[in-house]
Amino acid sequence: MTMNLVLMGLPGAGKGTQAQFIIKDFAIPHISTGDIFRAAMKNQTPMGLQAKQFIDKGELVPDEVTNGIVEERLAKDDVADGFMLDGFPRNLNQAEALNAILAKQGKQLDAVINIHVEPEVLVDRLSGRFICKSCGATYHRLYNPPKVEGTCDVCGGHEFFQRDDDKPETVKNRLAVNIKLNTPLIDFYQKQGCLYQIDGEQEIDQVYQAVKEVLTKLSANK
Ligand code: AP5
Ligand code: MG
Repeated sequence: MTMNLVLMGLPGAGKGTQAQFIIKDFAIPHISTGDIFRAAMKNQTPMGLQAKQFIDKGELVPDEVTNGIVEERLAKDDVADGFMLDGFPRNLNQAEALNAILAKQGKQLDAVINIHVEPEVLVDRLSGRFICKSCGATYHRLYNPPKVEGTCDVCGGHEFFQRDDDKPETVKNRLAVNIKLNTPLIDFYQKQGCLYQIDGEQEIDQVYQAVKEVLTKLSANK
């Protein structure tokens, strides 16, 4: 069974949170362009240093850089049986580039899952987020705290961090930039006939039940 997926949603909608569950149940590689950029920034590679200039301002990294990274990643062997892109594409140019990359490989998208959350909710989600330093598991101060305070549920780690781009000044622009690009992208995939809308304002587990239902049906029909 192959499943070629895109997980879409505004900053803080819950893409990373849901991705953690999806990869457990459906065993497909999780490809987050944001995670790729953060790893490159941490290692101070030339690409990372370039990306940082945009990410720190809440702007998109230029398409030629981002599309190139995704093309390279989708050429690897581990995506033969499917993949889940998280945070890519974010605009029409990237969506067209993705279709072209897949067409070259004789593939197509099976589903684009949009986690819909109204923008008003998102500032709160981003300002309360913290992440385990050793395994990357994502938590929220109020909505999703670890079971034992100060200890990661997944790996038992005790060190956490907040993302630099979750500062209020950056969040404001990140949201504005993404809100503007989101509607045309949704229309694009609606026309392509592969869009699934999920209500992202439910409890985390309920959001996952809705996502899982879509993916289970999809994999049964393959
Ligand atoms: P990226 O890392 O993708 O950031 P983003 O799109 O802003 O999304 P986030 O990761 O902030 O949110 P999320 O949807 O994963 O939410 P999460 O699950 O963590 O990209 C970062 C930057 O890289 C971009 O700004 C851009 O500069 C650059 N970039 C990346 N991709 C690019 C591209 N394609 N082109 C150009 N540039 C690109 O959840 C958030 C919080 O809410 C957590 O605390 C969580 O616990 C909580 N939460 C989750 N679900 C729920 C729920 N149902 N109820 C209550 N709380 C919840
Ligand atoms: Mg994320």
